[in-house]
Amino acid sequence: MRKLRINVSGGYDVLIGSGLLLSLGEQIAKMGAEKACIVSDDNVFPLYGDILVSSLADTGVKAEKYVILHGERSKNLNVYASLMERMRDFRLSGSDVLIALGGGVVGDLGGFAASTYHRGIPLVQIPTSLLACVDSSVGGKTALNLPSGKNQLGTFYQPSLVICDIDTLHTLPTEEYRCGSAEIIKYAILESEDFLREITDNSIGDMYEVVISRCVDIKRRYVEADEFDRGKRMLLNFGHTLGHAIEAESNYSVSHGCAVAAGMGAITSLCVEKGICSGDTEKLLLSALDKYSLPSALMYPLDRLLPLILNDKKSREGKIRFVLLSQIGNCFIHEIHEEELDLWLRNGGLK
Ligand code: NAD
Ligand code: GLY
Repeated sequence: MRKLRINVSGGYDVLIGSGLLLSLGEQIAKMGAEKACIVSDDNVFPLYGDILVSSLADTGVKAEKYVILHGERSKNLNVYASLMERMRDFRLSGSDVLIALGGGVVGDLGGFAASTYHRGIPLVQIPTSLLACVDSSVGGKTALNLPSGKNQLGTFYQPSLVICDIDTLHTLPTEEYRCGSAEIIKYAILESEDFLREITDNSIGDMYEVVISRCVDIKRRYVEADEFDRGKRMLLNFGHTLGHAIEAESNYSVSHGCAVAAGMGAITSLCVEKGICSGDTEKLLLSALDKYSLPSALMYPLDRLLPLILNDKKSREGKIRFVLLSQIGNCFIHEIHEEELDLWLRNGGLK
């Protein structure tokens, strides 16, 4: 088992290893909670819910569950409102705990609920998708989608504990393994050519504990330097401005990871076209995406994505922010005026 400490807002541990679900009750009891509300989805709860409930019961913590339909479309205000009602019916108090058991959708929704119920109750993240293990469970971003776009509501709310039991990844569908790999490729692009080659030449699935720990440690550095996403942390959005537009345009039938992969491929080809990075750098990214059968180009015409890009919350004072790549291990933020966006993207070869 590996333990990483994230030093923001009081600080919390991220535990990464095998068999960790069994010790959950002990961990929650240590936090002083009498009740726990487990938020999960209809794929994950039937697989792991009972282990959690009985581990909690063993230490005298009462558990209630709230199970949503799996998928991005559940990350909305209606589901949130009915979860709030359930938490109230269950009479959760400010010292009780919300446990988010699942992928990034459950984590974002559960996090948002924990941060707003009684102005904030303790949150434990138990990520079960690869994407959630390496990214969404750590760092404290919570989110809901609005009909107008992705993640338009949200809070910064750090968990009290993150438990990443890698045994849960054995039931993850291949498609979701690929999606999680996209965010790992993102970290490698931000970090180093060595890391990118390591995950291109070997399979992430053969070295979960090592790779997840490495990604969490990379994310830790960005989050500790910029908890509220005003500077360095924005680099973690490499590929995301285009990716979020793709997700929204597909009405969330394209998953977050695949959309981010396409966004990373497209923005890198723009960087090559504009002479910001070399074709060799692009080739390294494309080999990694190819290894995990991930897309590398926009799957919708620019005309359809532009309104969604303009609606993105990364727009500030009439400017949209993109993360550009000059070489592996070196990304930077570039702001572009909304009125210049269309031409700037088209001149970069995107259509
Ligand atoms: P997800 O939560 O929809 O999970 C993907 C699918 O895998 C779902 O069908 C789920 O039921 C299933 N699943 C999860 N774990 C499983 C397991 N162990 N066994 C079997 N099936 C399992 O999606 P995701 O890819 O985990 O996360 C994407 C979401 O995360 C998006 O909403 C994205 O915006 C958000 N996100 C948030 C942050 C953040 O910092 N808060 C960062 C990145 C992504
Ligand atoms: N996933 C980007 C962030 O946490 O900042």
